[in-house]
Amino acid sequence: MKLFLLLWVWQLPTGFPLPHIQPQNRMSQEKFELGRRLFYDVRLSWDGKQSCASCHQQSRAFTDGRAVAPGSKGRNTMTLTNVAYNASFMWSNPKLTALEDQALVPMLTEMGVRGHEREILRRLRPHYGELSLKDIVNAIATFERALISGRSPYDRLVFDADHEALSESEWRGMQLFFSERTGCAACHSGFNFSGPVRYVGGRAVRPALVANGVTGGKFRVPTLRNVELTGPYMHDGSIATLDEVIERYAVAHKLELTTSECADMVAFMRSLTDREFTTDPRFADPSCSAGVSPALGGREAGETPALHVTYSSVGCLYLSRAGAAMCSSTVAADRRAEAAQSSWSAEEAAAAWAGAEPYP
Ligand code: HEC
Ligand code: HEC
Repeated sequence: MKLFLLLWVWQLPTGFPLPHIQPQNRMSQEKFELGRRLFYDVRLSWDGKQSCASCHQQSRAFTDGRAVAPGSKGRNTMTLTNVAYNASFMWSNPKLTALEDQALVPMLTEMGVRGHEREILRRLRPHYGELSLKDIVNAIATFERALISGRSPYDRLVFDADHEALSESEWRGMQLFFSERTGCAACHSGFNFSGPVRYVGGRAVRPALVANGVTGGKFRVPTLRNVELTGPYMHDGSIATLDEVIERYAVAHKLELTTSECADMVAFMRSLTDREFTTDPRFADPSCSAGVSPALGGREAGETPALHVTYSSVGCLYLSRAGAAMCSSTVAADRRAEAAQSSWSAEEAAAAWAGAEPYP
């Protein structure tokens, strides 16, 4: 087992909580660098043609632009935006709760490592020294946990109080998105616009799969951050554009939206795009960006992360400007939706909301 210096500085956007990590895989700058190299290394696949980055491309917020990924049983490649916060991984596997375990799945299947483990480790040795399969998945998971995105125009509005950050159309779209009328924020909730998230100091969450009424079956509620860049959409890539996504929701949920309201909602979703994330040299292919010091990525180190940030508090921050009544109703809708999504008993849910049961 390779040993690493445990030096690490989180570079969290304002208002973002500290991600939960596996205790046996602490964050480390050295491990992050190793994980980054491995993530982009085609030697990790049996035929030497595919790396994680073949499907998870930074410029597309770590997706690939295809409806479905080859060799994936008809599944659309998921974004790795803020993946560290997800309570479970993959479109519909609530039991997969560690990024370390997830990383093995594509390696063993799509990338053809199964049965060739020793050969692949031997192949990597001249470039990386002695590594075990566990070292590899730990390093890749460390790299993935650092893929945090929270510098979109929406964040500039909410966290930097930059009132010019959203256009009028985006602003109207935001109000629609958080309204009871559309109900979008009931599922795409919290700072990550997603299903359940876990973080240090957060309340206990259970992974949840839900039906959105647009596609068949139950799936994890994906983050909408960077969604502009991650099409085609849904678990099967069956919807090509965001305009079509809104149309499909409008039909499925009987939302009577005018054409300009639909356009506003799409505009709002585009305001969740974080170009700093998709161009951050720390996350780029190290073989293409030699010489760029990834250590601090141009951002302030040691920014104190605000713990316990939930949608409710974040939402109130700016909704207090847009109208306090809307805020409380959104929070209530949020909580109802959480209850509906999970299989908790009423007591469990109440305890979690009261913050009585922090994540271990
Ligand atoms: C052939 C394309 C392909 C390759 C190569 C690939 N992935 Fe993926 N990735 C996918 C697809 C498709 C999904 C969704 C799978 C599902 O839900 O069944 C996915 C899902 C994920 C997820 C889950 C994200 C979430 O929010 O739940 C992570 C993490 C991930 N991949 C990391 C990796 C890593 C690490 C590698 C390299 C070891 C890798 N992927 C290689 C296509 C790929
Ligand atoms: C009942 C919960 C629920 C509600 C309400 C909901 N969604 Fe979703 N949303 C989901 C789930 C689950 C998925 C993934 C479905 C799939 O992959 O088949 C999804 C997928 C999406 C996607 C595709 C994301 C991607 O990465 O492929 C977009 C965009 C989206 N929703 C936007 C919206 C908007 C806009 C609204 C409000 C009009 C909304 N959602 C309301 C649960 C919900």
